Amino acid sequence: MPRTVITFGTFDVFHVGHLRVIERAASLGDRLVVGVSADALNLRKKGREPVFSESERLAIIGALRMVDEVFVEESLEQKREYIERYAADVLVMGEDWRGKFDEFGDICEVVYLPRTPAISTTALIEKISSSG
Ligand code: CTP
Repeated sequence: MPRTVITFGTFDVFHVGHLRVIERAASLGDRLVVGVSADALNLRKKGREPVFSESERLAIIGALRMVDEVFVEESLEQKREYIERYAADVLVMGEDWRGKFDEFGDICEVVYLPRTPAISTTALIEKISSSG
């Protein structure tokens, strides 16, 4: 049976930290499914509109060769539903969420991966808007 990995994120202003987490998630199984936060979810979660719309972010993530399937994550409360819908064997989250998703350990393996140091979408937006 192929091993399916699922992960979630906004992936706005795509950067190398996003690439690394997707590469590492893909290496944990045979098939990688990525839930990309809806614009409305991102606004609720991070308090700002993403730079790139959900359809643009979906297109970028879906074009990566490590990614087999993408979908729009409409709500944080639907994680269990998404894990079941995509028959995921492994849930991968960033270590900033450590412990927060352990409840899904009854239906899949839960793995927290370290973040790539010194880069984030927020820092990039600040850097770009303060230059020039
Ligand atoms: N991520 C990572 N290393 C980074 C930044 C993000 O591994 N330096 C991972 C997160 O842990 C998550 C995924 O990338 O699993 C998507 O994170 P996202 O919140 O979209 O990116 P950030 O750059 O953290 O965005 P923001 O600054 O808006 O919080």
